[in-house]
Amino acid sequence: MPWNRRHLIAIEELSRAEIGQIHATAAAFKKILQRSMKKVPALRGKTIVNLFFEPSTRTRIAFEMAAKRLSADVISFDAAASSTTKGETLRDTAQNIQALNADLIVLRHSAAGSPLYLSRLLDIPVISAGDGAHEHPTQALLDTFTMQEHLGALKGRKVVILGDVLFSRVARSNIWALTKLEADVTLVGPSTLVPHWFTGLGVKVSHDLKSALADAEVVMLLRIQHERQASSHFPSLGEYTSMFGLNKTRASWLNPKAIIMHPGPINRGVEIDSDLADSARSVILEQVHNGIAVRMAALYLCSGGQPEAVAATA
Ligand code: CP
Repeated sequence: MPWNRRHLIAIEELSRAEIGQIHATAAAFKKILQRSMKKVPALRGKTIVNLFFEPSTRTRIAFEMAAKRLSADVISFDAAASSTTKGETLRDTAQNIQALNADLIVLRHSAAGSPLYLSRLLDIPVISAGDGAHEHPTQALLDTFTMQEHLGALKGRKVVILGDVLFSRVARSNIWALTKLEADVTLVGPSTLVPHWFTGLGVKVSHDLKSALADAEVVMLLRIQHERQASSHFPSLGEYTSMFGLNKTRASWLNPKAIIMHPGPINRGVEIDSDLADSARSVILEQVHNGIAVRMAALYLCSGGQPEAVAATA
């Protein structure tokens, strides 16, 4: 089946087969990244603009590295030093970047729906790098890619997502990806951050951490996203940590083979103890590493590449 999407806006709109195509393409690029010559000419002559209106470490650098490994030219937009500070709109900024001959825009923005808006406005591909609390598609793609490296096919695998689900675009994209891949997903946290209505997305909701962890093969932790919470959804960070933080005692409830994931940035000592974040069962830095190959796949496919042609790019 050929890849025929120009934009990557949300996991919700992808089929299971398309998720598989992105994973297969990322696996092929990951092999190339293990060679001494890591660069391929697939996007030579193309210019990619990273349009980030929110802070980012992992996503921005991984997209930049991915573009460079594909031989594209990359321009990273600094919102604080741009004309948006003089009142220029997202629409005008994006149209000007297109007029400057960009071939693809990667957008991170606090407004949910902004990547979809640009994809309808512009003639060039748009890839979402996270929009508000809506979706963070490449994060879920790299998370599920990493899970598959450890567990194989995810059908029936027990995944716990623990923490601030309500305000998390990572959680939403992972819920879509994991349910399409037929994983058995349980969301855990206080009822204010993990309301019952999430069950409508085909996942379980639990506020009983011990029983959820006992079954889990994967536990994915989420940061408390203060930047999106208009009011506090729990009495204090200390109280949250005492009830739901992953510490040594709670980690002992996990199956010894269970892996610990976190999209980052980590707040050590809040949602996870520092020792656990650095422990052998943590795959947090593997997730970050896989982010390069997954973003190479996203850039390559949205630029017109086909999954089966990756080997020919090397
Ligand atoms: N996981 C993630 O999106 O991290 P950054 O905000 O650092 O990109």
